[in-house]
Amino acid sequence: MIILETQNLEYSYPDGTKAIEDVSIQIPRGEKVSFVGKNGSGKSTLFLLLNGTLKPKKGKVLLSGGEINYSSAGLLDLRKRVGIVFQNSDDQIIAPTVYQDIAFGPANLNYKKEEIDKIVNKMLDYFGLQSLKDKPPHHLSGGQKKRVAIAGVLAMDPDVIILDEPLSNLDPVGADEILDILNELNHLGKTIVISTHDVDLAYKWSDRVFLLSNSRLIDEGSPKDVFSKEEQVRNSSLKNPVILDFYHELEKRWLATGGKRPKDIPELVQTLHPVDLMRVYVGPDTRVGECVNLGVLYGKYSQDGIYEAVNSRVLCKNEDGTAVVELNRRVLKPGNICVYNMDSFDKEEFDRILKEYDINFIGAMGKKSKERAEEEGIEVVCNSGVIDKSILNALTGSRCIILTSRGMVEHTAKRVREYIQKSGIRLSFHPVGKSAAEIDLNSKNDVAVGAGVLKENTGSKEKKNCHEPDFEFEE
Ligand SMILES: Nc1ncnc2c1ncn2[C@@H]1O[C@H](COP(=O)(O)OP(=O)(O)O)[C@@H](O)[C@H]1O
Ligand SMILES: [Mg+2]
Repeated sequence: MIILETQNLEYSYPDGTKAIEDVSIQIPRGEKVSFVGKNGSGKSTLFLLLNGTLKPKKGKVLLSGGEINYSSAGLLDLRKRVGIVFQNSDDQIIAPTVYQDIAFGPANLNYKKEEIDKIVNKMLDYFGLQSLKDKPPHHLSGGQKKRVAIAGVLAMDPDVIILDEPLSNLDPVGADEILDILNELNHLGKTIVISTHDVDLAYKWSDRVFLLSNSRLIDEGSPKDVFSKEEQVRNSSLKNPVILDFYHELEKRWLATGGKRPKDIPELVQTLHPVDLMRVYVGPDTRVGECVNLGVLYGKYSQDGIYEAVNSRVLCKNEDGTAVVELNRRVLKPGNICVYNMDSFDKEEFDRILKEYDINFIGAMGKKSKERAEEEGIEVVCNSGVIDKSILNALTGSRCIILTSRGMVEHTAKRVREYIQKSGIRLSFHPVGKSAAEIDLNSKNDVAVGAGVLKENTGSKEKKNCHEPDFEFEE
């Protein structure tokens, strides 16, 4: 269903600058959408048209199929349903305290005092701002101000949240926090629309990308589609996403499998060709053509370390005692990923889980779970990009736990399951703790809940002289 739409939109500023020319777009409800384009391409102007701050010279803006009504009552209703977060938080935050600023929107909607207080407190909790509620907003850091600005918009419970360059001027941690929040809000049903000239962000984050150049819409589609047209991206004065540049260089050197364009680092890792020739020390009696079994270790050596059992054939022997062997990979025992709901944290239970699953990598997602983890003295090693980093760590044998809350538990479960399905690697995945049972693990394509085994398809490669590995990890 289309929530926000424009038809042949045109806008010029009073000085005659044409800022939007013949732009027709459709934004489906519940999606994460990016508008990309270099500075001056028209992104901010379009956003101001979408929430009625500017009135088009020609064309229409439609919300849920109905044309915008530019009367003051119509605009009040529109702004309740389509919230906008400006690029510069100082343009947005006007009240003398954080509390009053968040209360501003609901007060404008004439809510009762108790109701406003309830909403504001909910926002302060959700955004981790309770301790700052009486501070003047201009004393806050960039990331904190951005959270106040988003809280002020969310307080009106809009269907669509539009954010103009939401990560510009934020430090990496602040930027990750805002991204976390946007993902969570989207997961809770909000349509999230951002503008950015950061192609890496648009590529990895969005469900849909609109490319603007010189006031016009140049292209739209999935990030993979839009960014596969490299010339068009260059002509719009933008760059390729780094991950694609990197992938192309690997592909040219035959280090990655062609065809698949990775969207993120876990997908990139999946495109890599495994090494198939290796130089190893062999005993003096080993002959050319003979098979040797190798255990390739991941990480540091330890008794229960993770290794891949590899069958290999000796291709040639060197005078220094080494041989070049061709590897025939068979078995990999990946690590596992647990997901834990911090809303129902219980110290005793948590410590038991850490022990039972021998956890060595703890990641936390979402402001609230991070704060709770800190209060409980849990040593979190990863605060951003947590799902991807847990997958990458599990691929090399780590036992990971992701701490999160509310609906994000389901979201995490879904993302990990998708990776398992796409990659065919049977990472084991366990929702753990009291609320684990609430997670719907019965979706049709569910795989690999419990310890797993990778059986790589080695095709019909010759296995003369090579016996199958004599051990395999149990499922
Ligand atoms: N208040 C204004 N008055 C005149 N021209 C403006 C104004 N704001 C933006 N513009 C012009 O409109 C065009 C689009 O700008 P903008 O929407 O800010 O692009 P973006 O957000 O992509 O950087 C640019 O040429 C810019 O110079
Ligand atoms: Mg702008």
